[in-house]
Amino acid sequence: MEPAIQLRQLSKSFGEIEALKGIDLEIQEGEFIALIGPSGCGKTTLLRHVLSLETASSGEILIGGETPERVRRKNKLGIVFQRAALVPSRTSLQNVQMTLDITGVKTPLTPSGLLEKFGLGAFKAHYPHQLSGGMQQRVNIAAAMVHNPPFLMMDEPFGALDEMTREFMCEFLGEVLIDHPKTTILVTHSIDEAVMLADRVVILAPRPGRISTIVEVGFPRPRKRELKTKPSFAEKVLEVRRLLYEVENL
Ligand SMILES: Nc1ncnc2c1ncn2[C@@H]1O[C@H](COP(=O)(O)OP(=O)(O)O)[C@@H](O)[C@H]1O
Ligand SMILES: [Mg+2]
Repeated sequence: MEPAIQLRQLSKSFGEIEALKGIDLEIQEGEFIALIGPSGCGKTTLLRHVLSLETASSGEILIGGETPERVRRKNKLGIVFQRAALVPSRTSLQNVQMTLDITGVKTPLTPSGLLEKFGLGAFKAHYPHQLSGGMQQRVNIAAAMVHNPPFLMMDEPFGALDEMTREFMCEFLGEVLIDHPKTTILVTHSIDEAVMLADRVVILAPRPGRISTIVEVGFPRPRKRELKTKPSFAEKVLEVRRLLYEVENL
């Protein structure tokens, strides 16, 4: 089967800085990839290329056989950055509904249903300033995926959330993805989060930014938070942590 996302010898330099060098990666349809690596190793740059927000110095990216720009214009990409991008004068529900109004996409998901799934059933009529940062980010994620895009790109989406909220969000997100599968790339600095959510964890090395190792995760789904109490989970986290330390010491 043709991969859903293909990165072929993707390289990007900013002047002297080789942010990415010779990245080859094939992502299958419905696969969940976690991108992890030391600060400055090119994670955001890689994601920005997939989102067509950055132009490669060389190499190419194909998403479903098309250029990222075309795919983005067709509203097939859901995008979540670390900071919530909500309209202050609109309620939670209106902020999520806005995605559907803008894209005009028909979807089996509803703004109301998704907010409930994310534990915000009682906060649909609240405005962003009435919500905690964690709640705002949950609304943000709902807004990014309510139109059910086949591709979901997230750059440290849970970075600003407290530990408990993070865990619940991972679980909810995992559940939504089982019902509505998407090809997903998650940039994270949390090894737990990567192992909890991903099919494969891609470890990037810095200077130049490149793929160091890919770790298969393979726990069955749905993955509940209780998975974190299992020795097999701890072992996988340890494996990724060791590989990450090697990369950090380069
Ligand atoms: N627009 C830019 N101009 C110049 N340098 C950049 C730009 N974007 C990223 N970089 C550099 O590219 C490298 C990778 O950055 P980035 O992708 O943000 O790393 P990460 O997300 O892994 O922390 C860093 O050295 C960063 O300073
Ligand atoms: Mg980054």
